[in-house]
Amino acid sequence: PVLVVDFGAQYAQLIARRVREAQVYSEVVPHTASADDLLAKKPAAIVLSGGPASVYEEGAPGIDPALFDAGVPVFGMCYGFQLMARALGGTVENTGGREFGRTELTVTGDGGVLHGGLPLHHPVWMSHNDGVTKAPEGATVTASSAGADVAGFEDIEHRFAGVQYHPEVAHSPHGQEVLRRFLHDIAGIRPQWTTTSIVDEQVARIREQVGEGRAICGLSGGVDSAVAAALVQRAIGDRLTCVFVDHGLLRAGERAQVERDFVAATGVNLVTVDARQRFLDALAGVSDPEEKRKIIGREFIRVFEQAERDLKAKGDYRFLVQGTLYPDVVESGGGSGTSNIKSHHNVGGLPEDLQFDLVEPLRLLFKDEVRRVGLELGLPETIVHRQPFPGPGLGIRIIGAVTADRLETLRAADAVAREELTAAGLDRDIWQCPVVLLADVRSVGVQGDGRTYGHPVVLRPVSSEDAMTADWTRLPYDVLERISTRITNEVAEVNRVTLDVTSKPPGTIEWE
Ligand code: XMP
Repeated sequence: PVLVVDFGAQYAQLIARRVREAQVYSEVVPHTASADDLLAKKPAAIVLSGGPASVYEEGAPGIDPALFDAGVPVFGMCYGFQLMARALGGTVENTGGREFGRTELTVTGDGGVLHGGLPLHHPVWMSHNDGVTKAPEGATVTASSAGADVAGFEDIEHRFAGVQYHPEVAHSPHGQEVLRRFLHDIAGIRPQWTTTSIVDEQVARIREQVGEGRAICGLSGGVDSAVAAALVQRAIGDRLTCVFVDHGLLRAGERAQVERDFVAATGVNLVTVDARQRFLDALAGVSDPEEKRKIIGREFIRVFEQAERDLKAKGDYRFLVQGTLYPDVVESGGGSGTSNIKSHHNVGGLPEDLQFDLVEPLRLLFKDEVRRVGLELGLPETIVHRQPFPGPGLGIRIIGAVTADRLETLRAADAVAREELTAAGLDRDIWQCPVVLLADVRSVGVQGDGRTYGHPVVLRPVSSEDAMTADWTRLPYDVLERISTRITNEVAEVNRVTLDVTSKPPGTIEWE
């Protein structure tokens, strides 16, 4: 793999994704890993990420210089660039030339391999106080900026290179090309991480792990569990059984999508458990968000366990398939003490005493890769490109206690919003657009000459790369208008549509 060494901040995962977009497999490793740990993974190259520290600050994370003697290609970005420059004998100073945000980069000389042929001046995203003032010996400077004489260098012989800016962000339009050139042209890595290779590799792994055994998989209606199930189905055929718990907190059409479209595409064995009443009973009168989440998680597990016992009575189901993604793996391994903002409930949140071996075929993948794998496996677009939907479903989009009527109201409003967003071709532009019912709030309205006293719904359209941070999406007014008109006309209980214009942070995406 290409190892992306994480020096803090949130850049490392994004860099790992960019490396993979250049069709090279990559993993994130913490900067506390020793040079021996890194080299034991036989890296094809190492990328040093950016980070918040200054390289000569006391206690600033460093890098073992032995890394540069191992013959492994290394690329540094921002903080990683400065660390590398220093370790190789260059100079890093506080030049006073701090640059934040959009900055003009100037290609110097012929631009070398990294910057050759790119526009002489082009924008990049910078974020630095210190700067490299002298490149290491043997390295050629390929770019500069007003605040950084050395904004990029390369040492082709040793296969070292780096840039002061952040090539991984979209604000550096040529950044991906520069990273690609390092990986393919300087490090000499062949691009082999393709969707087909991912599928083949995972299918082989699953076959090896499961052998002649049987597996069950909980389907949540989300993308991840669907793709995980489809992969396992490809590997072991009808020795996989999927369990779908209808907790009644689903979006309109969701159950049919699983029962009809998913089964049609995969031919998988499916057991649906109708637990709608059970969840309503358990949630009766509860309006505290955390309590709702806990109840839904708990009931889900009970229902799933029952389904599992029924299945096990019929055969030896030893394996449990879960749609765990790479970011979850990195985050739980990172252990950087993130506080519990919400108790996320996943189908993954199954109890430890479930006697299963886990099969997690998406453990190495990012969400966009999961979607591509889903398409490669023949899953319909309606499943693969659906918006992320929380495990607790509409239960945490009703602000107030959950009742059957409120669910019906919210489901109808949500269906309208989704229809209009799809019709406007905006599904790929937004990350998701929760519709939230303020069930304990009423406002006065007028409709058809009569006074109404109904509930508001909130539209929460967000744009995001990974749901960790998000911005509210500037939806076109005409789309907002259509959604608003249709919801207030078609959904009896709703007489007001409002728009949430809060980014994350400070708001989370869901309201509960
Ligand atoms: P928040 O509200 O924390 O949501 O900004 C971030 C992303 O996670 C989804 N979400 C969940 N997904 N189980 C899930 O599987 C959950 O309990 C859960 N809560 C929130 C949310 O829809 C958004 O995409």
